[in-house]
Amino acid sequence: MCGIVGYVGRRQAGPVLLNCLGKLEYRGYDSCGIAVSSGDLVVYKDAIRVKALAETLPRSIEGKAGIGHTRWATHGEPSQVNAHPHCDCTGRIAVVHNGVISNFQKLREQLSGEGHHFVSETDTEVIPHLIEKYYAGDLAKAVELALGEVEGSYAIAVLMSGESRLVVARKDSPLIIGIGDRENFIASDVPAILDYTSQVLYLEDGDIGVVTPGGVEVSQHGKVVRRERHTISWTVEDAQKGGYEHFMLKEIHEQPKVIRDTIGGYVSAAEPPAHLATMGDISLEEILILACGTSYHAALIGKYLMEELFKVAVRAELASEFSYSGRASSVSRAIVITQSGETADALKAIRKLKGEGCQVIVITNVVGSTASRLADQTVYTRAGPEISVAATKSFIAQLMALYWLALPYAKIDIRRLDGLVMELRQLPGKVQRVLDSEATISEYARQLARCEDVFFIGRGINFPVALEGALKLKEISYIHAEGYAAGELKHGPFALLGRETPVVAIVAQDNTYEAMLTSIKEVKARHSPVLALAEEGDEVVGEVADSVITLPRVDALFSPVLNAVALQLLAYYTARERGCPIDFPRNLAKSVTVE
Ligand code: AGP
Repeated sequence: MCGIVGYVGRRQAGPVLLNCLGKLEYRGYDSCGIAVSSGDLVVYKDAIRVKALAETLPRSIEGKAGIGHTRWATHGEPSQVNAHPHCDCTGRIAVVHNGVISNFQKLREQLSGEGHHFVSETDTEVIPHLIEKYYAGDLAKAVELALGEVEGSYAIAVLMSGESRLVVARKDSPLIIGIGDRENFIASDVPAILDYTSQVLYLEDGDIGVVTPGGVEVSQHGKVVRRERHTISWTVEDAQKGGYEHFMLKEIHEQPKVIRDTIGGYVSAAEPPAHLATMGDISLEEILILACGTSYHAALIGKYLMEELFKVAVRAELASEFSYSGRASSVSRAIVITQSGETADALKAIRKLKGEGCQVIVITNVVGSTASRLADQTVYTRAGPEISVAATKSFIAQLMALYWLALPYAKIDIRRLDGLVMELRQLPGKVQRVLDSEATISEYARQLARCEDVFFIGRGINFPVALEGALKLKEISYIHAEGYAAGELKHGPFALLGRETPVVAIVAQDNTYEAMLTSIKEVKARHSPVLALAEEGDEVVGEVADSVITLPRVDALFSPVLNAVALQLLAYYTARERGCPIDFPRNLAKSVTVE
């Protein structure tokens, strides 16, 4: 996810672009840049944040038309050369882009064969070269012809030297036009332009817009279309949260899209996407997965998943402990999961593994992060920037990456495998159904908010989900919560149970089902209220638990995804009920870069 902006009008464009970009850094911030046209086109860009770019710019930049970009890298790590805007060979056409051009390699080869020279690793750079190829005096026409060759998603703004107009277009990525007084703006999202106007047009897929200081013309396939003008009443902060009260809730609700983006073109087990070669010829006699915090819970789920599919022993260990272990890792290849790619404990573990000659696969959400640069191979989750300290969408994206990695190596018959791939593709819809039940979940949260101690219990692949549910609750509501293997409560923690200590029990339709019912009955016998998570159609759980959060049916291997989303919502609404600063909890940081 990146942010694009554009300006054309009565002011000097440079300061306006920088101000607008600063409001979009929640969409990505590993690099940024602007291009301004005042006769010639001038481009300023680097792998720095907007504030730092502003400090490097000349005191005055002439030009009343310009475009800008703040990046969340997907193709090519953060660097000056990969930062947007990208230009054609002549340097007369500059483009900023949010989205993914899926056929960029083919276009790049084709254009290179026609004499075009590329300098970056990005998919975006093919766009200005295509526009240059088709330009014959009409920029909008050249953009339309160029986009006719592009597959994938885009929101783009195009600026040409000497022109005081912008050409914009969108397909599957958001783009708005802000209407001002003798000036107009374009942006990926409304926060960018609220300092200047509250009047916006939302472009639709296939729209091409020509934006001048005096007006906007939008067309589809050469025919002018009318887009309704809206008045935005949000503050900038509200708009950055997309209207949600907190970034955490927004990021929880982004999860269906994150799943779709992360499993992408996974169409069948028979033809997994090329990136699944990441595990290559991984020797399946032993696998080691290392991580911290929520990522460790993903690692544990990966353990249960791979043991079920590979029928071999898989170790999931805390990275913070692994580094102090006296023994060698004794594996030839390991997986390290770190959404930030900067967690000190995870980096220390990677260095220890590599020191032992171990091949390291990193699963991370940040392109160009330290972990990705230390790794022998990297699987990027596509969760986009996660602003809230509590990991939610990045966790679900990690699970998707683990399913990616595991399924092609599963020792199960092809019918079951194809069934699992089909289930994987249906997950976004099922997660959406969990999100649609948030009002019910928030009711239970109101009750939980009055408690001081809570247990979360699960078995098998949902034991790590119990750990994650407890972590979510404690880190944002400050309620003491413990995640426990359900079978372990009777070995001591029963002493803590009672009417004041509710237990959240995760019940899955797998070989742990009967044992979970038994655990619930044992807990009830000690007078703890029980809130169960169970599948729709389960008539039995409701007879033993006090309350039930009902979730869509799903293969047990994928049940952690739906259970985790429900527990994210439970934690969120509990913390909200307690008036906690949800996005930035006390004592915590988004990336723990110290041991
Ligand atoms: C989870 O909500 C916390 N933010 C924390 O446990 C986090 O998962 C942990 O610090 C690991 O971070 P990483 O994935 O960036 O390595």
